[in-house]
Amino acid sequence: MHHELENIVVGLDVGTAKICVVVGKHIFGTVEIIGVGQCLSSGLQKGFVIDIERTASAIRKAVDEAELMSGCAISNSVVGIADRFIHAQNTSGMITLTSHEVLAGDVQRVIESAQSIALHDDRKILHTILQEFIVDTHHRIEHPVGIRGTRLEARVHLITAGTASINNIVKACKKAALEATEIVLQPLASAEAVLMPEEREMGVVMIDIGCGTTDVALFTSGTLRHTAVIPVAGSHLTGDLAVGLHITLSEAERLKCLYGCCQKEIHNETSSVEVFASNGIKSSIITEKSIRMILQARVTELFAIVAKELELSGFKNDLVAGVVITGGSSLLPGIDRLAEQVLDMPVRLGKPLNMEGLAENFCKPQYSTGIGLVLKAATAGVTPVARPTSLFEAAKLQFTRLREYF
Ligand SMILES: Nc1ncnc2c1ncn2[C@@H]1O[C@H](COP(=O)(O)OP(=O)(O)OP(=O)(O)O)[C@@H](O)[C@H]1O
Ligand SMILES: [Mg+2]
Repeated sequence: MHHELENIVVGLDVGTAKICVVVGKHIFGTVEIIGVGQCLSSGLQKGFVIDIERTASAIRKAVDEAELMSGCAISNSVVGIADRFIHAQNTSGMITLTSHEVLAGDVQRVIESAQSIALHDDRKILHTILQEFIVDTHHRIEHPVGIRGTRLEARVHLITAGTASINNIVKACKKAALEATEIVLQPLASAEAVLMPEEREMGVVMIDIGCGTTDVALFTSGTLRHTAVIPVAGSHLTGDLAVGLHITLSEAERLKCLYGCCQKEIHNETSSVEVFASNGIKSSIITEKSIRMILQARVTELFAIVAKELELSGFKNDLVAGVVITGGSSLLPGIDRLAEQVLDMPVRLGKPLNMEGLAENFCKPQYSTGIGLVLKAATAGVTPVARPTSLFEAAKLQFTRLREYF
């Protein structure tokens, strides 16, 4: 408990398979990971908290572990969210410049106008991410204040979440004596951890395949264009194996992680493994081929859904840097090759990029979100630097804070 608190940032990934707390030390623009705590998660269904009590106790365990490892007392954290109640859309707002020049207040007004979509009580705006300002016919303006013109337009990516989803997560944190200072869409965090700035500039889609959901974030020209949360992921693979092979879920999970593979061509076509049948008495012999066939079918289906999502985004042809896959289910051997075939794009596997202080143990795809949340927490508090995305993010943050004020 001896670190200076203002330098310590914390991210909490509330996942369907595991709860993970990452502690970072933020000094001179770099973030050093000084602690990680985790606990198996059982209070969520496809990213949605269905059991606050259980989720709270798992959060507490993970926080305790992270406190022990980092030597910090943790009282608040940036928290991730991703479930099927997330909606995202690109919207724009436009205002007339009465003084024929953009004033500071105009920027706020135009963003507000872009945010004015019909919103029911059961939804809340989670992020308003600026894509560009347009003054008259001039596009891609980053700092509109002071520019002369008659019309200011703001294009934003607006992400909304279910009020219940947010409330449940905040409640679970509170029960675990943790204050959720900011809620961040999980794929934005994962993207922060695994993507290179050049990839975002060239056009890339990040796919985080977890246990309950597959989270998508698409960038072109360095800007976020499309996000989606697909409620199909690792737990479906396990479920399919259990049903298809007549085995228990825990046996299916074990087989998946030990023998799972989605490669088309494989040498050991006939090799077999012994499994425990779901009645718990008899054991039976199944071939590795049957495991592979089942997994391949479901993963192919998943990437077909992703392909549709990319079509829908309208940016499919702009993804020069292709696809980056991360999340625990990206550990399935051959998943990148299968994605390449289905999506017809170059694919690479992603894990947290060269983080300082990060032990080898945590440099794995299942920690992308947790580490990304720490990075988000670090950038939220500081004055923005050169990168346009962080500038926009900072503007958004200032704006959100202002709104809360009034
Ligand atoms: N070696 C492996 N092969 C295949 N799948 C694996 C392997 N290791 C872990 N997984 C799967 O990864 C999933 C967990 O991934 P992750 O930790 O990213 O999920 P999560 O963040 O808790 O869940 P979500 O983000 O969906 O809420 C589980 O479904 C697990 O079965
Ligand atoms: Mg996850």
